[in-house]
Amino acid sequence: MTRQKILITGASSGLGAGMARSFAAKGRDLALCARRTERLDELKTELSQQYPGIKIAVATLDVRDHEQVPKVFSELSDQLGGIDRIIVNAGIGSGARLGTGKLWANKKTIETNLVAALVQIETALEIFTKTGSGHLVLISSVLGNAGVPGVKAAYCASKAGLTSLGESLRAEYARGPIKVTVIEPGYIESEMTAKSNSTMLMVDNDTGVKALVAAIEREPGRAVVPRWPWAPLVQLLRVLPPPLTKPFA
Ligand SMILES: NC(=O)c1ccc[n+]([C@@H]2O[C@H](COP(=O)([O-])OP(=O)(O)OC[C@H]3O[C@@H](n4cnc5c(N)ncnc54)[C@H](OP(=O)(O)O)[C@@H]3O)[C@@H](O)[C@H]2O)c1
Repeated sequence: MTRQKILITGASSGLGAGMARSFAAKGRDLALCARRTERLDELKTELSQQYPGIKIAVATLDVRDHEQVPKVFSELSDQLGGIDRIIVNAGIGSGARLGTGKLWANKKTIETNLVAALVQIETALEIFTKTGSGHLVLISSVLGNAGVPGVKAAYCASKAGLTSLGESLRAEYARGPIKVTVIEPGYIESEMTAKSNSTMLMVDNDTGVKALVAAIEREPGRAVVPRWPWAPLVQLLRVLPPPLTKPFA
């Protein structure tokens, strides 16, 4: 099935912008949102020139503004004439080592990556329930499978929570009509990873996004991308004693 009308949150940079470019090249219509509107406008101009046949709608959205999420999704859906796939991608990688008095930093990470994702999920389900179908994609992380020492503790927790929500949704909608996919990316170049200490096994944005989009198009329940070397590493992460997870932090 071709999902023609695709909404992506966090589309102003990194994986979100990469997925927008890749789906545009496949002739899909796009609804793109993020806080940095000027970035979205530039992306819209670029893609409209390259692919004049597709529709592109953009909107400013801070996903932590819980009242705005349904409003913006609904406006974007109206502009495209419906939405077939929603990619919950907006996220941040910041945080602080637990116990250093920076609750605000870790709280922000969990509010953005998990609580705001829940709001996007509820909104997506409402839209898809009304239309009777749709593909919900959650961009989690390989780090949802482990705890690590240092600044990524809240990030790991947020992604473990998101993966768990996705697994519950897969159980809930096992017989349809809504399809749910949890994507667990390994390390892919983006603005987020540019700020990270961990460059281990990092792939460039094009390579990562290509694997990401191919996995999304297959619509599996759950996928680790890029598959090699991350699929076996995820199995390792799940059983590794916590003190040994440091290289992934
Ligand atoms: N790159 C990786 O290696 C990797 C690995 C695993 C998982 N992921 C996940 O992939 C997703 C995209 O990350 P990325 O690597 O592409 O990082 P990125 O380049 O920093 O992109 C993050 C995107 O999220 C948006 N965003 C952040 N906070 C937001 C908010 N409050 N409201 C709306 N949009 C917000 C940003 O847009 P604005 O700042 O314009 O709002 C930006 O478009 C994240 O969920 C991340 O956890 C990435």
